[in-house]
Amino acid sequence: MGKVKTVYVCQQCGATSPKWSGQCANCQAWNSMAEEIQAVSKSSLVGGGRRATVARAVRLNELLGEAKKVKERLVSGSSEFDRVLGGGIVPGSVVLIAGEPGMGKSTLLTQLALKIGKSRSVLYVCGEESPNQVAMRIKRLLGIANDQLPNSKVLLAAITDVDQVVATAEAEQPQVLIVDSIQTLTTSDLSGMSGSVGQVRESANRLVRLAKETGIAVFLVGHVTKDGTVAGPKVLEHMVDVVVELTGERSGIYRLLRSLKNRFGAVDEVGVMQMEETGLADVPNPSGVFLDEAQAGAAGRVVVVAMEGVRPVLVEIQALATKTSLAQPRRVAQGVPLPKVQVMLAVLQKWCRLPCYNYDVFVSVVGGLKLVEPGVDLGIALAVASSILGKGLPKETVVVGEVGLLGEVRRVVRLEKRLKEAKKLGYGRSVAPPAVKHITQAVKELR
Ligand code: TYD
Ligand code: MG
Repeated sequence: MGKVKTVYVCQQCGATSPKWSGQCANCQAWNSMAEEIQAVSKSSLVGGGRRATVARAVRLNELLGEAKKVKERLVSGSSEFDRVLGGGIVPGSVVLIAGEPGMGKSTLLTQLALKIGKSRSVLYVCGEESPNQVAMRIKRLLGIANDQLPNSKVLLAAITDVDQVVATAEAEQPQVLIVDSIQTLTTSDLSGMSGSVGQVRESANRLVRLAKETGIAVFLVGHVTKDGTVAGPKVLEHMVDVVVELTGERSGIYRLLRSLKNRFGAVDEVGVMQMEETGLADVPNPSGVFLDEAQAGAAGRVVVVAMEGVRPVLVEIQALATKTSLAQPRRVAQGVPLPKVQVMLAVLQKWCRLPCYNYDVFVSVVGGLKLVEPGVDLGIALAVASSILGKGLPKETVVVGEVGLLGEVRRVVRLEKRLKEAKKLGYGRSVAPPAVKHITQAVKELR
């Protein structure tokens, strides 16, 4: 096989160049040139002179019959992970696990390997760590001494050449292939460094082809990094079947698994896990874990019921308003979008005549959750009002509702389900529509 020809393609405008340059000569974008393999035969592209062979089209009925047969999914051993995947692992699928360093991607996939490896073969490609390091993690996860490893069909391999990964997988025929991480893989067909857009994309491409041809389920770890030197999971999203994001506060114990894309299930499905001594454990009933009951009734504290995927979760929002000495008061938000806090301040000022302009305002969500849906508007507004007025909400009260610019409180999706979940956890009182129609009415609940 001759050497593969490559070109540099601008990721902004599509212009090509045989050599790398820092700036695209066509659209002047900086750092946009990524190496790609050149389309093979020119003749198939020009002139329309070539006659393609007829491909086989399959009858839908036939496929549906087949789909029934292959519907069998593997279970990952974690019900939270399974629900995020849409009900288990689909053979031949490619799943990208994205997350910042330290979130627990390697831990999650090692646990997956151990579970599947009990009955089926798993190939774990570790480019980030040595097989010894992975073995040490396994010992830690299982809490066992050196020589007590149970019979396991997990194979470890330290490979960074993607073509070698493909060859090894074809030879070993595992059910599941785990690649930790995609950013460590390269192909010698491209000259870029590992982690560059061209290398990451081409490596993923070859693994996707492997999955589709062999039916091996492939898991790719993709690091999300803040600076742009390593190609992030974004460049892979359209290629893979499922994108699962692992988020949380690194110092906290809770981790959220969220599917951003899923060809086999619902998106926005959320799984909650907690990091323990022996790895990530399911939190099957997460609705109450983010609450700190000791603070009940305190000024500035509000409990809202937010939807995480299709599950209602009770979360505490805290606000602190202190007299400002600045011409432009400080507004800091953690876990909720800052613009939302600013709108709520304006609404309180206008309709409830609260002097928000006199206060520095800090809002935060307990437990490291990120709340973006409109159902938490009223909770944010009441938390701030509560801190400014120095009055708290009665115990066992939840707040749900969207707040409009006119101060009106609107209904939100799944209101009944949220209130039912709250009641189940002992929060029988609620400040919510339709009983509460305006923000002024809600503020009167503070005492
Ligand atoms: P890791 O899976 O290596 O994260 P990632 O691959 O996403 O970079 O592990 C993240 C952290 O989890 C690490 O700092 C140590 C901690 N940890 C535990 O608390 N318990 C455990 O059993 C393991 C394996 C890791
Ligand atoms: Mg890792």
